[in-house]
Amino acid sequence: MSKTFLLAFGILLTILSSVTGLVLIPNWQFQSLKPVVKADGRRYPEAYFGDQDKGRGVYIAQGCIYCHTQQVRMKGYGADIRRGWGTRRSVPRDYLEDRPHQLGTMRTGPDLASIGARQPSESWHALHLYNPQLTSPGSVMPRYNYFFDEVKRGQMPPAEAIRLPGNGHGDVTHILPNERGRQLIAYLKRLNQSFPLPEANQ
Ligand code: HEC
Repeated sequence: MSKTFLLAFGILLTILSSVTGLVLIPNWQFQSLKPVVKADGRRYPEAYFGDQDKGRGVYIAQGCIYCHTQQVRMKGYGADIRRGWGTRRSVPRDYLEDRPHQLGTMRTGPDLASIGARQPSESWHALHLYNPQLTSPGSVMPRYNYFFDEVKRGQMPPAEAIRLPGNGHGDVTHILPNERGRQLIAYLKRLNQSFPLPEANQ
């Protein structure tokens, strides 16, 4: 009888301490976190809207998280800042609008927490997603060419089409992001943690 009681007590204690450590304490620590209101009245972090928001869904659905993190570690915990992945470390407030957050754990590719600041060019992102080898020779990132309409040789490219470098790629000379492509690029351009937050300096 007393052994059964001890076992039940042990199980209860294990469950209670994990709920306290993993749910209650973090919730208590972070529940008062609010966005910062900038001098121009805008907030940081801003909500995702329109294409950015839909692009976040595309990012999740494609599993980009399996190769990319979105978290810059502080100095002394790795070379993230030296590599240019961010100007400061990431802090909880950066993720107020990210539900679910895309922190990730795998770094087959570079961290993307501030890719919007590091690489603001839409046509770069388009070429890179269409075929990573075009912008980054030797890249092992898969092609996401199904996010693009292709303009073949001899066809008239629309004005906003992006020209492939060199003499084109096979018989494709230009590409044009389709709906999901535009959304994904809008999301990538929105990823930017360069706004200085006071707690990131501690
Ligand atoms: C199999 C792993 C893998 C997957 C999956 C993957 N990537 Fe990558 N990614 C890489 C590697 C490796 C690089 C570095 C070489 C390069 O630039 O292509 C990279 C580079 C990048 C860069 C440029 C980063 C920089 O600092 O220049 C962006 C942006 C990017 N990936 C976005 C994405 C998006 C969006 C997805 C999902 C649609 C994705 N990646 C899926 C491996 C991956």
